[in-house]
Amino acid sequence: MLPLRAIARRILSPSFRASRCSSSISSFPRTISSLLHTPLSDEKASETVTITGWVRSVRRMKNVSFAHVSDGSTIHPLQAVLTKEQSENLSMGASVKITGEWKESVRGKGQQSRELLAEKVEVFGEADPLTYPLQKKYQTPEFLRTLLHLRSRIPANTNLLHLRSGLISTLTAFFAENSFIQCHTPVITSSDCEGGGEVFTITRPKDFFKTPKYLTVSGQLHLETLVAAVPRVWALGPTFRADKSDTARHLSEFYMLEVEIAFIDTLDPLIALIEDMVKTLIRSISTSRLGRETLSAAGGGDKAKELEERWRGLLERSWSRITYTEAISRLGSAVEQGDVQFVSPPVWGAALQAEHERFLAQTVFNGPVFVTDYPKGLKPFYMLPSVSTPPAPEGGETVACFDLLVPTVGELVGGSLREHRYDELLAEMRRQGITVRDEDEEAESLRWYLELRKWGSVKHGGFGLGFDRLVCYLAGVENIREAVAFPRWYGRCDC
Ligand code: 4AD
Repeated sequence: MLPLRAIARRILSPSFRASRCSSSISSFPRTISSLLHTPLSDEKASETVTITGWVRSVRRMKNVSFAHVSDGSTIHPLQAVLTKEQSENLSMGASVKITGEWKESVRGKGQQSRELLAEKVEVFGEADPLTYPLQKKYQTPEFLRTLLHLRSRIPANTNLLHLRSGLISTLTAFFAENSFIQCHTPVITSSDCEGGGEVFTITRPKDFFKTPKYLTVSGQLHLETLVAAVPRVWALGPTFRADKSDTARHLSEFYMLEVEIAFIDTLDPLIALIEDMVKTLIRSISTSRLGRETLSAAGGGDKAKELEERWRGLLERSWSRITYTEAISRLGSAVEQGDVQFVSPPVWGAALQAEHERFLAQTVFNGPVFVTDYPKGLKPFYMLPSVSTPPAPEGGETVACFDLLVPTVGELVGGSLREHRYDELLAEMRRQGITVRDEDEEAESLRWYLELRKWGSVKHGGFGLGFDRLVCYLAGVENIREAVAFPRWYGRCDC
């Protein structure tokens, strides 16, 4: 039998994919991407092709018309040359099938180097220019959020669909190569993992599950059951939070990438894995057409340069790491020296606010920073006490956890070692008022979670990464509401 790593490499290799796909997709029209990105061979000065897609623009000259057509396979449109009659019913948004001769362009500067001389044009669905809401001119992100059913047709939004898909492919290969198993955790759960109370509750149909259930806030607790059978697991799934944060980095429904690893007793392997994983993603996009299109979609000139610089910076250096206690002291010194003013003063024992996180990542470290060992009182019941003994004020207990902060986005990842000792976990759950009654069959009880510590418990840890926040960071997108096709946030669930 081939080892897992070799199988993954084979399945993900372009030749394997081509061999599997060619028979089933050979009947589909050529994609515009394949036409634009494959040079015409010398023997073939032209070839007859059929494309399907949507008209992005039509320019009508005296005797001839030019239509830009996109099929979503690339952000660049294909230029078709049509007669006046052929272009009659074409307007932005119309869906078309065009057959013609794909050849070197004879036109002058500024034109595409190749174009499609249309022979047959079929309009599938017209789009009335008087009512079609998408326009060639700039339309604000806020306005486009009112058109969720249409905005994915805009090149920058199309590119985000490709980017999400490409990142997931790379993640799948990365984890397979490192012997992780992808698992699925439930969307409907019987407990609120974080204990934060920000859950959507399912109460109807009445008595369906006998007691109220919840939309998951994290797959962590279920992944912990699986990691007790398979020591390296990962999951990527929808996660729901009913908090009313109306910010550029919060959604009510978002995708979380979660990892759980057994047989580890420090934070080091988790931190190293995250750095390696994100760097692998950046390497994969920065050397591909997806990356080049992401740079063009980010907006020309300076924006593309800034994004490329961000990728380079992330790849070139080792990411920083400090403890929470050191972070508070750095923030305090910055305030004392008059370098910065915060609305909430940084105080040991209080949560780091977005303004503190931004200052640490953007000004102090100018790059990603792992902040470790937060005070116990700020974190959920399942975290193991700190394994090293980081300096903390008198009596200040800390736990073995970390947040990864990155410039512009703030918190990207949260993770920890988990309390693997039965008695200690039970005591902490009781202290935090969590329903555990050891021998009770009560449906909402977390007895099953506690029981994992009864038989064959092992030291373990894991993390959750906000996938949509990662997409924002890697694509240079400012608001998380653009990183997903159908954003849901406080007060809004439009389509
Ligand atoms: O820090 P969080 O709340 O961690 C957990 O839920 C752990 N149980 C995960 C684990 O250890 N398996 O969330 C993890 C990440 C955050 O760092 C953030 O990037 C993202 O999820 N996140 C959100 N993203 C978008 N909208 C929201 N409302 C988010 N809340 C958290």
